[in-house]
Amino acid sequence: MRKKIIIANWKMKLDYTDSLQLAKKTKLKLLESYWRNKVVICPDFLSLSNISQILNKTKINLGAQNCFWEDKGAYTGESSIKSLKQLNVKFVILGHSERKMYLKEDLKDIRRKLELVLKYGIIPVVCLGENKEDYKNKQTIKVLKKQFKEIFKNLENVKTKKIVIAYEPIWAIGTGKILEPERISEVLEVLKKEAEKYFSKNKIEKDIYFTYGGSVNSDNVSILVDYKNIEGLLVGSDSLNSKSFFKVCKNFLN
Ligand code: PGA
Repeated sequence: MRKKIIIANWKMKLDYTDSLQLAKKTKLKLLESYWRNKVVICPDFLSLSNISQILNKTKINLGAQNCFWEDKGAYTGESSIKSLKQLNVKFVILGHSERKMYLKEDLKDIRRKLELVLKYGIIPVVCLGENKEDYKNKQTIKVLKKQFKEIFKNLENVKTKKIVIAYEPIWAIGTGKILEPERISEVLEVLKKEAEKYFSKNKIEKDIYFTYGGSVNSDNVSILVDYKNIEGLLVGSDSLNSKSFFKVCKNFLN
């Protein structure tokens, strides 16, 4: 069976009340489906606890948009992976480009977070991607390989379950401009090959998902469906409407 997953990243686009409402609507839509166990909803931190209850026993997965690299301590304003675990969070997005841009998160930070997330048996969704300038200068592959190495090198002694790798061209996020599917497929193939330097082939086939994010929506998702090596999608804006999001999932996961 082909690996497939869809991750909804709500970012900080909704307030608490709207997040809970959307969680209820999304749950109702997804309960119609048999593939809802392949969907992950990542609300903001303040809504996580209540949404955890809303999604309880539905098979829909809960994800967080970040975590800190230590599990406790004097880190004002940060959130602990232990709490995430207690809230039944199964996935954590790491290194999203918006965190790199606005919070100056770097590859070392992401690597530290990755180790902690893996230690707690939570599935990391590790974002990689090039900016517009690198894209224009045809540096995408070089940039991605560097990011890949910094984040995944020397993981031999760390026990890993599943890992989701998300290729997200920074210039495509939130712009309505999706990268051509042939190119997405090519880049994911390169990343898969690169992964062989750090993981066994068996591990890659079994446990590592190669996914794409950046302006995927219910209008364009159908052009991605036939590319078998696109194993998952990260959906931002279009996950904020339960009907559109359901369409994206239905098209891709059915
Ligand atoms: P977008 O966001 O779908 O709104 O482009 C995707 C993401 O940031 O993961």
